[in-house]
Amino acid sequence: MFTRKLQRRIYVATGVLLGSIGLGLSFGAYVLWPSHREAGYEPGQPIAFSHKLHAGDLSIDCLYCHTQADRGPHATVPELAICMNCHAQVQPKDKAGKLKPDIARLLDHWKRGEPVVWNKVNDVADFVYFDHSRHVKAGVKCQECHGPVETMVHMRREYGLKMSWCLGCHRQKPKPSDPAYQRGDKTRAPINCSTCHR
Ligand code: HEC
Ligand code: HEC
Ligand code: HEC
Ligand code: HEC
Ligand code: HEC
Repeated sequence: MFTRKLQRRIYVATGVLLGSIGLGLSFGAYVLWPSHREAGYEPGQPIAFSHKLHAGDLSIDCLYCHTQADRGPHATVPELAICMNCHAQVQPKDKAGKLKPDIARLLDHWKRGEPVVWNKVNDVADFVYFDHSRHVKAGVKCQECHGPVETMVHMRREYGLKMSWCLGCHRQKPKPSDPAYQRGDKTRAPINCSTCHR
C-alpha cells in the first residue's frame, strides 16, 4: 500500500519535473534563438559579402548600393547589376587559377539571371511605421542605427529594434545641427504614439 502510494508520487513528481525541464528548454530556445535575440543576430548569407572590404577598405559609399536609403522608406539591398559594375572585370582567382568560390557563385547567379536571396538581418515589427529617408535627410548617420558597418566582415544586427531603442534616441535633446533644434522642439524627434503607430 505504502510503497504503491510512494511509487505513484514518484511518477507524478518525475512527470512534473520532466515537464518543467521541457518547458524551460523550449522557453530558453525561444529567448536565445538568434532571430528572437535583440542584438547581435548574424544570419549566414548565400554569398560571403564583406562590408569591411567594400565599405571599409574600398570606401564604396553606402548609397552606391543602398540606393533608396535617402529617398524612401526602405534602404533596399542592391541588385546583382550593381555588383557587376565591378565584378564583370574584378574576378579574383586562387593560386591554381580557379575563380574564388564566392565570386564563382555570384557570376553563376548573374549568368542564370537568378537574384541572390539575402537573409534579412534587421526587421522591425510589421505594425510599426519606419522610414529611412526621414532619418537620413535629418542627418542621422547609418552607423547610429547599424553600428560600425564598415568594419563588419559579416553583417550583424547591432541594436535590438525595440520601442525603447527608438524612443531613447527620439527623446534626446536636439543638437544645433538637427532640424528639430531649428524648429525649436525640445526633443530630437517626435515621441507621440502616432509617429510610429499609424
Ligand atoms: C558594394 C555594395 C554595398 C555597399 C557599398 C554597402 N552595402 Fe550594405 N549590403 C550590401 C549587400 C549585398 C547586403 C546583403 C548581404 C549582407 O547582409 O551582408 C547588405 C546588407 C546591409 C545591411 C543589412 C540589411 C538587412 O537585411 O537588415 C545593412 C544595415 C547595410 N547593408 C548597411 C550598409 C551601410 C551602413 C553601408 C555603408 C557604410 C553599406 N551597407 C555599404 C551591399 C552593400
Ligand atoms: C566598386 C567596385 C565593387 C563593387 C560595386 C562590388 N565589389 Fe565585390 N569586390 C571588389 C574588389 C576590388 C574586391 C577584391 C578583389 C580581390 O580580392 O582581388 C571584391 C571582392 C569581393 C568578394 C570576395 C571574393 C573573394 O573570395 O576574395 C566578394 C564575394 C564580392 N566582392 C561580392 C560582391 C557583391 C555581392 C557585390 C554587390 C552587392 C559586390 N561585390 C560589389 C569590388 C567591388
Ligand atoms: C534611425 C535608424 C536608422 C538609420 C539612420 C538607418 N537605418 Fe537602415 N534600418 C533601420 C531599421 C529599423 C531597419 C529595419 C526596417 C524594417 O524592418 O522595415 C533598417 C533596415 C535596413 C536595411 C534592410 C533593407 C530595408 O530597407 O529594410 C538596409 C540595407 C539598411 N537599413 C541600410 C541603411 C543605410 C545604408 C543607412 C544610411 C544611409 C541606414 N540604413 C540608416 C534603421 C536605420
Ligand atoms: C539615432 C536616433 C534615432 C533612432 C534610433 C530612431 N530615430 Fe526616428 N527619427 C530620428 C530623428 C532625428 C528624426 C527627425 C527627423 C526630422 O526632424 O525630420 C526621426 C523621425 C522619425 C519619424 C518621422 C517623424 C515625423 O515627423 O512624422 C518616424 C516615423 C520615426 N522616426 C520612426 C522611428 C522608429 C520606428 C524607430 C525605431 C525602429 C526610430 N525612429 C529610431 C532619430 C532616430
Ligand atoms: C519612435 C517610435 C515609437 C513611438 C513614438 C512609440 N512606439 Fe510603440 N513601438 C515601437 C516599436 C519599434 C515597437 C515594436 C517593439 C518590438 O518589436 O518589440 C512598438 C511596440 C509597441 C507596443 C506592443 C508591445 C511592445 O512593447 O512590444 C505597444 C502596445 C506600443 N508600442 C504602444 C505605444 C504607445 C502607447 C506609444 C505612445 C506613448 C508608443 N507606442 C510610441 C515604436 C514606437
